Amino acid sequence: MGRGPAARTGVRAAGISPTDLALRAGYLKAIPLPPDAVLGFEAAGTVDAVGPGVTGTSIGDDVTALLLSLGGYAEYAVASTWARKPHAVSWLDAAALPSSAEAAERVLRQLNVTSGETLLLFGGGGSVGIIATQLAAARGVKVISAVGEHDETLARELGATPVRYGPGVAGRVRALGAVDAVFDAAGKGVLADAIALAGGPRRVITLSDPAAAGFGVTLSEAAPGRAPGALDEAIALLAEMQQAAEAHRQLESGSVHERIILTLS
Ligand SMILES: NC(=O)c1ccc[n+]([C@@H]2O[C@H](COP(=O)([O-])OP(=O)(O)OC[C@H]3O[C@@H](n4cnc5c(N)ncnc54)[C@H](OP(=O)(O)O)[C@@H]3O)[C@@H](O)[C@H]2O)c1
Repeated sequence: MGRGPAARTGVRAAGISPTDLALRAGYLKAIPLPPDAVLGFEAAGTVDAVGPGVTGTSIGDDVTALLLSLGGYAEYAVASTWARKPHAVSWLDAAALPSSAEAAERVLRQLNVTSGETLLLFGGGGSVGIIATQLAAARGVKVISAVGEHDETLARELGATPVRYGPGVAGRVRALGAVDAVFDAAGKGVLADAIALAGGPRRVITLSDPAAAGFGVTLSEAAPGRAPGALDEAIALLAEMQQAAEAHRQLESGSVHERIILTLS
């Protein structure tokens, strides 16, 4: 992941998320929003200027950036955290990744879930949850994903065991076994159940429940350098998956009949 005072990118695509709506409505007091602020936590584009002391990128590089000082909806954005965009990843996918990927990886690191442990994930069908499920499963973590009926198949395809969220969720989770840690990527009043299932608040983290402090639970917030390398890791995995998917499409359509070699660039 590139770090440094600043690199300026000409924006090709900008991500828009529920967090932007909360920010615009004034619900996120932690992030100052001056009257002339330009929204946008994430954007993908081509670097056209770098500040002194910047390492890890140069003019002409295609990058995707996490913009903790906002500004992604503009023609140009100034970034202090970014990752190279592989050719296999589209501009749209690259722009949709940074905020959710950084949050997913950050919370998994904070929870310190390791291979063989069981993670209960609330919000497994959402932007953060979809990425968190795959990153956790790739580490050998067993994921129980609390989702709505419409996301059960998705959760299963991503490598999780789905349970239906809503009243009675704690009982449904208990029926599947013990839980080591809980990742709340929904923020919809699940912390009492989370604490009961994890045996206390120590290994429960929420991304957005404003009641966190009252429950003694950590509310994880983005800050520069909090999850170094998270964006590089996520975009490399996405590139691998997209290359593999494209290779399958080509073989299935008959346009290619020989072995296809996957490479990252
Ligand atoms: N602190 C940070 O750094 C940070 C970074 C990124 C995001 N966030 C916050 O994290 C939250 C998730 O972000 P996102 O982009 O992933 O949002 P999202 O795409 O809207 O996903 C939220 C998911 O939560 C599910 N959900 C709703 N009620 C639930 C419940 N009671 N139990 C389990 N799941 C439930 C939703 O399912 P349905 O579709 O069935 O409603 C949806 O799949 C947002 O509040 C966002 O603002 C914080």
